[in-house]
Amino acid sequence: MQIDLLIKNGQVVTAAQAEYPVRGKKMQELEVIENGWVACAGDQIVGAGAGEILPRGLDITESTQVIDAAGKVVTPGLVDPHTHLIFGGSREDEFYLRAQGADYMEIMEAGGGIASSVRATREASLDELVASGRRYLKWMLSLGVTTVECKSGYGLDLKTELKQLEAVRILQAEQPVELVSTFLGAHAWPEEFKDDQEGYIEFLLNTVLPRIKTEDLAEYVDVFTEKGVFSVEQSRRIFHRAKELGFKLRIHADEMNTLGGAELAAEMEMASADHLLMVSDRGIEALGKGNVVPILLPATAFVLRKPYAPARKMLDAGLPVALATDFNPGSCPTANLGLVMSLACLYMAMTPEEVFHAVTINAAHSLGRSDRIGSIEVGKQADLVIFDVDSYRKIPYFVGVNLVSSVVKAGQVI
Ligand code: NIG
Ligand code: FE
Repeated sequence: MQIDLLIKNGQVVTAAQAEYPVRGKKMQELEVIENGWVACAGDQIVGAGAGEILPRGLDITESTQVIDAAGKVVTPGLVDPHTHLIFGGSREDEFYLRAQGADYMEIMEAGGGIASSVRATREASLDELVASGRRYLKWMLSLGVTTVECKSGYGLDLKTELKQLEAVRILQAEQPVELVSTFLGAHAWPEEFKDDQEGYIEFLLNTVLPRIKTEDLAEYVDVFTEKGVFSVEQSRRIFHRAKELGFKLRIHADEMNTLGGAELAAEMEMASADHLLMVSDRGIEALGKGNVVPILLPATAFVLRKPYAPARKMLDAGLPVALATDFNPGSCPTANLGLVMSLACLYMAMTPEEVFHAVTINAAHSLGRSDRIGSIEVGKQADLVIFDVDSYRKIPYFVGVNLVSSVVKAGQVI
């Protein structure tokens, strides 16, 4: 077979294991090939190994592109499984206030926060949302991120929610980062329904969710289950309807308060339970019994100056931890998954080995894609990153520095 792309002489982090997701202790066992190579044909990985000599059957020809990765690290394309990519405006005014000591939930209760991004997103045109999304995706790609989950939730009306999801669809067609679309209509109470919560829930159940299904605009449904936002009972109703319509589920769980979102995720066999800063021991135990991927978002804890999620407890309980940015205009205005990796090491005591599983294969698993992306294995899509350091442990160590030298998406060097 002719190879189209050969990357050689690098330290290759495959993140491959026998079973996905990678759980608890297994997350320590990162597969690394010293002086390794990765061969690609078309959009696929067709081989990986150590040394100079390729196995029989893999042929280098004149048209093979060869990249010498000597002194560099090669990893799977990074996967960011929780972002709020599409929004109008920005909230540096609130950042200023929070820097002076204001509290995130207080700003929200006073009509700012998510509501202010809802106003800006309703006002923005589809073209404007596509343009800002395009810009943020460029940042992410330059940081080695090749797959991104994107939530709606800054419309809270039919027209704007559809506009946000439509922006994701347009971006998917025009740029290389793979996008996974999630409907988050239950992100806050819209102004029009602030005295009629039941009315908004009925509207989501009977009008919005069926419409999004018919137009095939989202793969997942998410709810912000939080004190003052959607109660566990209200969330359960939304998730039941979503499941009935054929959506897969993710949840904003136990972020500011211990509400039982983790238990709800386990009960409803969700794909992921995200945030978990305030998860209880019972919540961790419930997650341990199911197949839910806990997605931790340490950059949000950092920006909000909140306690970090108990990652070590979850790892000790054998959970398959993943990491994400939570990129959004309020609680986490960073698109930098590399920074998240450093914060996970420094503030959640995760090791670089655990962190690499968390931003590759486990993140991919939470998006239902661990059979196709998230590790360097024969038959998988050729999504790869080359970092300009000689050891993967230096990647979280150089905090806040973008060390990416090239990104390969579906076999194409970008
Ligand atoms: O994941 N928690 C709810 N939603 C976002 C914040 C959105 C915003 O502040 O605009 C989050 O933190
Ligand atoms: Fe979020």
